Amino acid sequence: MDQVPLCDTQQDGRKESSMSAVLSDYYLWIKALHVVALISWMAGLLYLPRLFVYHAQAEPGSELSETLKIMERKLLRLIMNPAMIVTFITGFVMIGSNTGLMQGAGWLHAKITLVFLLAGFHGYLSVCRKKFLVDANTRSHKFYRLMNEVPTVLMILIVILVIVRPF
Ligand code: HEM
Repeated sequence: MDQVPLCDTQQDGRKESSMSAVLSDYYLWIKALHVVALISWMAGLLYLPRLFVYHAQAEPGSELSETLKIMERKLLRLIMNPAMIVTFITGFVMIGSNTGLMQGAGWLHAKITLVFLLAGFHGYLSVCRKKFLVDANTRSHKFYRLMNEVPTVLMILIVILVIVRPF
């Protein structure tokens, strides 16, 4: 397949068309990367509250508590943060290369709203992690069991919206 050469000196119009030509050539690869990234992000969003359930029951300063601090930091920094960033970038690159998708697509607007709620939940988990790090968590393990349901419900709604497209 001939690659469309991208050069900065081209006029906006022509640059635009060769850029979107490349993106549409690779659209399915971008979508595949999108799905891989969202699976990794969801895995972290479902696992981190589970770690908090055990951490809330561990004695502050204990070996278990210190081990969980390392696991939580690595999960958030090495998996969840990069996966969330790649999910967002690939999602908006697909919209950028296929602007027709946004027109009248209530499902996509609703989906993006729920995804921002998911990102807000990600941010909240990051705040909770910092509290555990300094042994300042005040929430019970029951609270985190309940929290574990939030990403599950949001994920189910998001996948129904993007696959079924009910409106
Ligand atoms: C702001 C973040 C996101 C944006 C902008 C976005 C946008 C998109 C777009 C434009 C598509 C391609 C639709 C098409 O080609 O017809 C897509 C596909 C998809 N998205 Fe997202 N998405 C985001 C986050 C997520 C999240 C968090 C999930 C799941 C929890 C998700 C699940 C999916 C799935 C399963 C597909 C494939 C659908 C298919 O092949 O028909 N997306 N997304």
